[in-house]
Amino acid sequence: MSTHTTPSETLVARCRAARRIVVLTGAGMSAESGIPTFRDRGTGLWARFDPQTLATAEAFQRDPDMVWAWYESRRHGVSRAVPNAGHLALTALAARPQTKSLTIVTQNVDDLHERAGAQAVLHLHGSLFSPRCFDCGCEFKGLSEAASDENRQTAMRLPPPRCPACDGLIRPGVVWFGEGLPKAVWREAQREVERADLLLVIGTSGLVYSAASLPDAARRRGCHVAVLNPDASTLSDGVGLDWQVRAAVGLPALLAALDD
Ligand code: OAD
Repeated sequence: MSTHTTPSETLVARCRAARRIVVLTGAGMSAESGIPTFRDRGTGLWARFDPQTLATAEAFQRDPDMVWAWYESRRHGVSRAVPNAGHLALTALAARPQTKSLTIVTQNVDDLHERAGAQAVLHLHGSLFSPRCFDCGCEFKGLSEAASDENRQTAMRLPPPRCPACDGLIRPGVVWFGEGLPKAVWREAQREVERADLLLVIGTSGLVYSAASLPDAARRRGCHVAVLNPDASTLSDGVGLDWQVRAAVGLPALLAALDD
């Protein structure tokens, strides 16, 4: 695995040849925008918070005010963050004339790919910006101004809004532990991986399925898979395409090398 700040010739050659690219991203993609990952030692969200009390349907039923406040605080943090050089480089990669399609399959619940200008983004784990009713599933549209309220970032408890249709509680639009992925989004992600000739895997520990199954599925079909991560990853296969690098450093360097 390469650990330099310039990409290997093999990786550059595979990217040059690729026409249909899928990019699987995880929390590391947004780390340099100041958004914490989940499992990085000390700083990861799951090192500081217990997912069983915050990220399950049962937790929400038990204490909706605490769960809602935690997700509001995360949404506030994301709203203040800006896309990093890695997000922008992916948008530029998609815009190259040689690229026929580039689909981002993200586990992230932020909107930084979209704010960097990405056109095709599949959110496998939902979004902090698409809350819905816990009871009837109706989308809820009333979030926007709350995000700019500083108090909401620090509050430990906030009552969730009520659904205008059925008066049920509004829940965050994210996938919680014990819940399935949104079916149509997952099918679309699988379809894109089936058609891809290159899969870039960026900033994910590869510990959470179904997302973590995509690199193997791609390899089985003969698609090239490159893992970009500053740490050694379980998703690497040692065929020379993996690169130990941070997303906001590696992706702009890769883009620059393609045009050399
Ligand atoms: P993790 O926190 O499990 O992994 C983050 C990965 O990013 C690690 O492998 C880090 O080495 C890497 N990383 C850290 N900084 C980086 C940087 N600057 N550039 C590139 N990589 C970097 O996050 P995910 O793999 O996204 O699910 O976690 C998967 C799912 O687990 C999340 O979507 C979330 C969580 O529980 C739900 O909430 C449903």
